[in-house]
Amino acid sequence: MIRENELAARHLVLPLFVQEGQANETPISSMPGQSRLSLDLILRRAEEVVEAGISGVALFPSIPDDEKDTVASASTKPDGLLQKTIRALKSNFPELLLITDVALDPYSSDGHDGVLIDGRIDNDQSLPILAAMAVSQAEAGADIVAPSDMMDGRISAIRDALDQAGKVETAIGSYCVKYASSFYGPFREALDSAPRGGDKKTYQMDPGNAREALRELRLDEAEGADWVMVKPGLPYADIIHLLRTETDLPVAAYHVSGEYAMLRAAAEKGWLIYEDCLMESLLTLKRAGADIIFTYGALDAANLLREEY
Ligand code: PBG
Repeated sequence: MIRENELAARHLVLPLFVQEGQANETPISSMPGQSRLSLDLILRRAEEVVEAGISGVALFPSIPDDEKDTVASASTKPDGLLQKTIRALKSNFPELLLITDVALDPYSSDGHDGVLIDGRIDNDQSLPILAAMAVSQAEAGADIVAPSDMMDGRISAIRDALDQAGKVETAIGSYCVKYASSFYGPFREALDSAPRGGDKKTYQMDPGNAREALRELRLDEAEGADWVMVKPGLPYADIIHLLRTETDLPVAAYHVSGEYAMLRAAAEKGWLIYEDCLMESLLTLKRAGADIIFTYGALDAANLLREEY
């Protein structure tokens, strides 16, 4: 009766890892319950997602090393793995929101989100590459492109490119406040996308900073973001709350791979109960102010909610 915040399946987004092949499932060892899936298996998973009332999926392609290069050329191929997946999902499940990641890393031989020139990430030379990637995803049928690269000026570069391509209705879900976090480890294992040299600290945010999140917010609002995300989730609940009080845009939170892995690992040891701790984590993200939650536990949570958890 007096509960102030509620979870609902429609607020959840399930991240999915896509790989080539047929009936090809590769479990991710650091993320029990999660696998890289070939397109046929993605379609089956999507059916469960729609059935569970989850609003959307976030798609992450696993690209073989021999297709990677320094400028992520494979990211704009009209018949690329991601583009094929988007088209198949859209035609089978038109009501399911398709959210795509815009960043060079899965396609980059350097494993960075921007382009590496003379050993440094070149912000401005990354922008046209990111914009072309977003247009290619939108043309394949993505509903929301989600830049996770943290280059400055990318929201306006992407908005302009989408508009010029006639994709005026494609939304931009910005990874607005993304920290240089150690909680992304299992995700990088899943996609073999860890930086080959250096780290991401020249473009992702310092965990010590909160005011800087407001600067990122102002820039993204002015450049045309349709939502603003904070990532990781629980360790940055204060930042989610800060954005919630400062913006009228929807706020998203990403309960990231490391957060999921910790729950699963402790549960495997019998030290805590996965389901209870997952639901408590997600409710905390809601209470902090998140409207939308990306979580690898989306299907588990949605099924628990059906049982009136
Ligand atoms: C890539 C990207 C990352 C995640 C989402 N998009 C990893 C990174 O920035 O290195 C992390 C998601 C997770 O850990 O669950 N730009």
